[in-house]
Amino acid sequence: MPPTIPPIHPDDIARAAALLRAGRLVAFPTETVYGLGANALDPEAVARIYAVKRRPATSPLIVHVASVDMAKSLVADWPEAAALLTKNFWPGPLTLVLPVACVETRAGVKTSDRVGTGVPPVQAEQSSAALSSRTIPPIVTAGLPTVGLRMPNHPAALALIEAAALPLAAPSANRFTELSPTTADHVRQSLGSEVDLILDGGPCTVGIESTVLSLAGPNPVLLRPGGISRQQLEALIGPIATLKDAPAGAHPAPGMHARHYSPRTVLYLTQKGEVPEQWQGIYLQLHHAPTRTNITVLQMPQSAAEYAASLYKVLHNADGNNYSWIAVDSPPNTPEWEAVHDRLRRAASKGKERVQL
Ligand code: TXA
Ligand code: MG
Repeated sequence: MPPTIPPIHPDDIARAAALLRAGRLVAFPTETVYGLGANALDPEAVARIYAVKRRPATSPLIVHVASVDMAKSLVADWPEAAALLTKNFWPGPLTLVLPVACVETRAGVKTSDRVGTGVPPVQAEQSSAALSSRTIPPIVTAGLPTVGLRMPNHPAALALIEAAALPLAAPSANRFTELSPTTADHVRQSLGSEVDLILDGGPCTVGIESTVLSLAGPNPVLLRPGGISRQQLEALIGPIATLKDAPAGAHPAPGMHARHYSPRTVLYLTQKGEVPEQWQGIYLQLHHAPTRTNITVLQMPQSAAEYAASLYKVLHNADGNNYSWIAVDSPPNTPEWEAVHDRLRRAASKGKERVQL
């Protein structure tokens, strides 16, 4: 049985919201992984996220919202597919990439509004200045004309966004290329005192990051498989292209390079239970027994959702136990395992560079 965590106290939410409004960083739970949050409208606060994570400025951040209305206020366009998908999957592990609203667009809207409404020019200018301060700055999107938006399905995350009354830019609360955190302890171990506050909402239930889907081009493109499967999305909006089949000019997924999500320990993906002949390691078994008996074997859950929910915790623990290697019994190549496969491949890519099995 997982430990029972009491709900986060409203006073803690209020304190965290005050910190965010003052430009500070707060780590908070979501259903996928813990996020490292800052006011998405404050470029200096967002710059602190990049500094603490040691993340390159070319990797854009996801903006977390507490409602569809908040999401709409940040984008230039809200296509029918966004309406359908958010109706079905928000709050939840789905990030939508859409054209970001820019200052000029908003000022332009205000200018044309003014004609019809008879608002005097001075007042109209003030309101467009107020609106422009609700604009996502380029540091959040790494200079792209698009923004990734997500409404997380966690009561503490939603309460925090509402209490701060701000959209929150939040990448996973780990250092760049490390494993994502699925408990508050993982955040403490990775970022420690560099975060102003960590809200502990217990273990994340989905356990891997959100699905990232671009709706910014002519066709939807899957940029990162995650908590909502491709099938679930396609059932609603029809065929979705994968990043590698997307035509040139489609929006890229910067920051999706292979070495994301790596444990420190070398990790091998194996097909039939083959494990290294040397040293002590841990074998994450799904179906095949390992080829050696004197090693640690951990039986992983049979369902993709339960496997995903425990994967990062298992890898964090393996790192903590100083094994020489982690060998993973490859899950089946069926659609429901797409996101788990993606994360395992990335985790294994470091192994390939360092040691041959
Ligand atoms: O589940 C999640 O999505 C977690 C929680 C905290 O919400 N967040 C997360 O953030 O995984 P991060 O920064 O570790 O990954 C965000 C990914 C980036 O690697 C990037 O590929 C994609 O989202 N992304 C964000 N904005 C984008 C944009 N404008 N265009 C293309 N990709 C974007
Ligand atoms: Mg991350």
